[in-house]
Amino acid sequence: MLLDNHGRKINYLRLAVTDRCNLRCFYCMPEEGLNWLSRKELMTYEEMLQVCSLLVKMGVEKIRITGGEPFVRKDIMKFLTSLSGLQGLNELTITTNGVLTAPYVKELKNIGVKSVNLSLDTLDANRFFSITGRDEFQKVMSTLGELLKHEIEVKINAVVMEGKNNQDIIPLVELTKDLPVSVRFIEEMPFNGDGHLYTGLKWDYVRILEEIKDRYPDTKKTVDPLFSTSYNYQVPGHKGSIGIIAAYSRTFCGTCNRIRITPEGVLKTCLYDNGILNIKDRLRDGATEETVKAVLLDAFNNKAKNGWEAERLRTKNQGAHESMATIGG
Ligand code: 5AD
Ligand code: SF4
Repeated sequence: MLLDNHGRKINYLRLAVTDRCNLRCFYCMPEEGLNWLSRKELMTYEEMLQVCSLLVKMGVEKIRITGGEPFVRKDIMKFLTSLSGLQGLNELTITTNGVLTAPYVKELKNIGVKSVNLSLDTLDANRFFSITGRDEFQKVMSTLGELLKHEIEVKINAVVMEGKNNQDIIPLVELTKDLPVSVRFIEEMPFNGDGHLYTGLKWDYVRILEEIKDRYPDTKKTVDPLFSTSYNYQVPGHKGSIGIIAAYSRTFCGTCNRIRITPEGVLKTCLYDNGILNIKDRLRDGATEETVKAVLLDAFNNKAKNGWEAERLRTKNQGAHESMATIGG
């Protein structure tokens, strides 16, 4: 079992396979996009497989593929298929914006993907455009339909933002009435690539819950699974469920079981740190598996206690502000 310096189990890797995206969610990146990584700067699929295979041998049981948008990277299905074959990997999941995903859902099911997180902040096509800068709402809804049809578990991620989609909280809860989906409301974080100034949090987890309870006073707390980052609820009689993720308030760090690898191959032991070491560079310098394992273990032994400490310890770019697409959420 892999433990960190605070005695927390590490068994979950979030791997971002690209920084590119076909949407421009204003809370994630500016309209002009980012300074995209060049092909050389990106980890190759071979390098990713090598690192994932090592981490699985060390104790990682679950891998989530994120981005950017994973499905904009060429040959992603081939990579996912190889990854799904790793001995010892119990769970392979994906976070996607759903624009390009619908045609791949059947294949995802076939390679054993049991759960997909779909980023969807609104059920209104006009608000979707105003948040993402692209007119792709229908494609996302067809991905939702495909996922349900193939009985893949769906978690809908909705970032809650004053004046942008707070009016969607109740419609999204209503979606859980007939659909077996888990709608997860996420506090907005400062990771917007400086596309706009982060002015502090208007919708924290307490306020989001108040809004839901105002309309659905019977909303019940349900048991939060081990390592869960969300507070979980259900409206009695609804097929689906509700989660609230205190991503900014950082109330879940005590049970943190995760590490991240960015598209450039940088290991992050906390969402809020600014990168611990570049694994890709080590591999390209010819490091042996033993050496890479040793540097990883050293990093896991120096994990920040929580997101506040990690943010304080950042050596450059004081304060977390980079785009979520360079981190992988
Ligand atoms: N704050 C909160 N969540 C964000 N995401 C992207 N940027 C931010 C931000 N600034 C979410 C996306 C996606 C997940 C990977 O991260 O909506 O669902
Ligand atoms: Fe793309 Fe996701 Fe960022 Fe939106 S939040 S721009 S879908 S990476």
